[in-house]
Order: sequence, then C-alpha cells, then structure tokens
Amino acid sequence: MATFTRIPEGESPSITIHPSHKVAEIDKNIYGGFTEHMGRCIYGGIYDPGNPLSDENGFRKDVIEAFKELNVPVVRYPGGNFVATYHWLDGVGPKENRPSRPELAWIGTETNQFGTDEFMKWCELVGCEPYLCLNFGTGTLDEALGWLEYCNSDRNTYYANLRRKNGREKPYKVKYWALGNECWGPWQVEQLTKEDYAKKAYQWAKALKLLDPSITLILCGETGYSSWDHYVLKECVKWDVHGLGTENNTKSLIDMHSIHVYTADKEHLANATAPRSGERAIQMASALIDLARIENKVPPSIPKQKICFDEWNVWDPVRAPGEEGAEEQYTLSDALAVAVWLNAFVRQAKDMGMANIAQSVNVISPLMTSPEGLVKQTIWWPLLLFSKYMRGHAIALNVRAPEYTGRTNPAWIRAAIETPYLDCSAALGEDGLVNLAVANLSEERDYEVALEGLKADQVEVFVVTGENIHVTNTAGEQKVGIVESKWDGKGKFTFAKHSFTLLRWKE
Ligand code: AHR
Repeated sequence: MATFTRIPEGESPSITIHPSHKVAEIDKNIYGGFTEHMGRCIYGGIYDPGNPLSDENGFRKDVIEAFKELNVPVVRYPGGNFVATYHWLDGVGPKENRPSRPELAWIGTETNQFGTDEFMKWCELVGCEPYLCLNFGTGTLDEALGWLEYCNSDRNTYYANLRRKNGREKPYKVKYWALGNECWGPWQVEQLTKEDYAKKAYQWAKALKLLDPSITLILCGETGYSSWDHYVLKECVKWDVHGLGTENNTKSLIDMHSIHVYTADKEHLANATAPRSGERAIQMASALIDLARIENKVPPSIPKQKICFDEWNVWDPVRAPGEEGAEEQYTLSDALAVAVWLNAFVRQAKDMGMANIAQSVNVISPLMTSPEGLVKQTIWWPLLLFSKYMRGHAIALNVRAPEYTGRTNPAWIRAAIETPYLDCSAALGEDGLVNLAVANLSEERDYEVALEGLKADQVEVFVVTGENIHVTNTAGEQKVGIVESKWDGKGKFTFAKHSFTLLRWKE
C-alpha cells in the first residue's frame, strides 16, 4: 500500500518508508507467465525441435534458463483465445498420430505436436506450476472432466490410465484451472452472455470440484470493472458447493476471479501512467467480490476470493496485430510502464492471488527468440528486478511528489486515481532486506528525494534506464539493461529522469 501527497514542481520530494508496517504478504504468483498457442510463443519459442539450442525434448534451453533466472512460479497454458477451439485429446499420445486442425483464434493450423504432456515436462524443467485454461467455446464439460482426470487422478480410471499409457505414472496434480478465457469477447468462438456464462461456469465448477476438490478454480471476469464482472461474481461466488448450505461447509466453489487489461499509448506519459487503470481495476474487482459475498451471505470463514490478473502488459493490437504474432518491440517507455504495473501488484498485494504477464515468449513478450539466440527486451529488466527482490511482504510508504496532470489513457484514470511522476512500492523480504522500487516517469527531471525511514549506510542500487524513452533492445544492441552500484545512504538519493531504480538495504 502506498499513499500519495501531491506537491508543486520545485518543492523537494520525499518517500517515507515504514519497514515495520507490513501491509500484506506478496503472493509469489504475481510473477507468473503465460504461454499460448499463438504466433511464435510455443512453436519457435519454447518448442523448437531440431534447433541446436534445443534439448532432446525439443525445448529451447536458453528459454528455460531465462524462465529459471526470472524464477517464474506459475505458467498459464494453452490460451488465451486459442483455447476456445482446443481439444486437449488432440495433443496427447504418439506425435505421429496427432491431428492437425484449423485454428480459429489466430487463423492458423495447429499441429498438436506440443500438448499437455510436453507442457507438464517443460514446467518440471523450469520449476514452475502449470495453470490450465478450459475450453468454454467448443469444449464440453465431459472433455474438461477428462482433462482434469488425465492430469490429476491416481485412480484406475480411463483418462488416468491413458496418461499412464502415454508414459506418465504419477498424476501431475495441476492446482490452477480457469473456467474459460474472455468468454465475453466478440472475437471469441462461442461468445457467451453473462447470464449463460454464469450458469455454465457454476455447473462446471461444481462437477470439477466433485472430481477433485483440491483444485483452485478461476472464474472468467472481464476488466474487473464491468457489468460482466459484477454479474458473474454475484452468480458464482457462493459457498454451498453441494447444495448443503450449512456453516460447516467451508468449501468455496470459486477461488479466484480473473481479469485482463492491456495498456499502451503513443505518448510517453500517457503510456507510462496507463497501468494505473489496471491498479484501479484491482480495487474495483475487489469491491465487487465483497459485494457478491455480502449479497450471497458468504461466511467470513471462507477466504475472500483473490484476483488473478492472468493477462497484463503493454500491448497495442493495432501496432502489433494478434493474427501476425503480436511481436511488440518494447521501448524504455514501455519498461517504465511495466514497472508501474508491477508496483501496482505489490501495492495491491492484499487482493492479488496471481498475475501473468502476457505473454512469456515472442508474443507481446520480454523474451524474443530467433533461430540463433535470445533477445531480452527492455521490459525484461524491471520484471527481473521485481521477481528477484520484490517478494515477502508489501510495506507501507508515503510518496510526496509532483504529479503528471496531462492526458491519460484511458481518460477515466484522471478522476479515478493519481498519476505521480514517482511511482513507488516497497517490500520487506524474508531475508530482512528492505526493497524500494521507484519509477521516475519524467522525461525531463531528475528528482532528488529524501528517503525518510532509511537508516542504512550500505545500499545496493540497481538502475534500468537508457538514452531516451524511445530506445529498444535488439539482437545487435542491448541499449537497456541493469546498472548496479552502491550508495552510502547519506543525504538525498537522485532518481534520474526516465529510469526505474531498485534500492535494497538491511533494516
Ligand atoms: O494475449 C493475447 C490475447 O489477448 C489472448 O489470447 C486473449 O485472451 C487476449 O485477448
């Protein structure tokens, strides 16, 4: 949590940090990833058989190393919009028998050479948990139950035995399952009305939890602030799973609510402050969850449903169309926007159960593969620093700084939430180190800031910046990276213009 006090330009800014004021535990899953059968994310991204950079499974070793470096805790799969026509059975068993199918989300051909068992093996190599999204388009409940049985059951039943036949004895124990993806979207195969979705999601959730009560089910929300979100939460956030309706029934049918927001703007400050809409979305979705629980009389003994922000990033679909693989080339301005996104997840830690950058490889991604190697785009660097250090507990801070007062995208940000030039969050790690993340969004001004609450004389400093807000990283040249230094903690700290800084010290 961070509070903000606006001061006029010219006055001296300050950040007051309260290391002993833990606000909420940061769920490590906010550093989750997302791999969809879209563009070059799977084929040519994580799976590239025949390439000398790949292992015996056909998995790109450099990509696996990058995921490990990022310490990605959970990865969503197989879509996205792709999942609305995906039949998981097409993607298991001997590869030569797997059918090729027309793919309707991105208008391609799906060869099914990479499927459930490949994804599970890949997750084991990366060291992350899988998060599977169910087909709410052309898929049936029977199929979904079959997939859950295939992945999680240790019984002597048909799909569990099919998994064994395909070479995997032990169940995969997939914890996270999403009840469809963007089912509200007009681009979706079998788009649903909120009424139809809520009815279907509730019934599917009931059946899935009867088969495996240990799973975490994620409801398909929209932006977090729409009538869809309001309606589906009201209809599905109930607690009487088996119709028992007693206080003793502590099972919740829905465990998290998924929301998606992408931001982008041609102008730097509108671009860098746009993720504040994502932060407000979290607050609004959280209020809608409260409302549903109040109206449905959900007892407080049932933990509040968290938000699963399972698609977020900077993306302009006109600039980088999905049908063409959405290969965004990110600038320093985008890296600062990503820092604001991640600050928002830390500040709103109380409500956040998971967040998944969309996506993890090649498609609107920090990582870009070529047959010869890997490029780490500008947005990789703040993501790496956050995932490495901004864990543990979010701690309270107050920021006194000037505010950007120009045009925002979307326009409603202006009246809904502040847009300070210094966008900050702070975390206290399990190692007892305080971590302060500060994005200085100004293109012109370095800010000399008094850090009240910092008592250390040894501070580690990590800075991500570049010559100007337009610079990008390419295979030939990495213009944006991390510069490390030390500071003695004396006087004020200067946060350079258009930079992201992470300061770390022992309390
Ligand atoms: O991440 C790209 C696409 O954006 C996903 O497939 C879809 O869910 C969203 O619209």
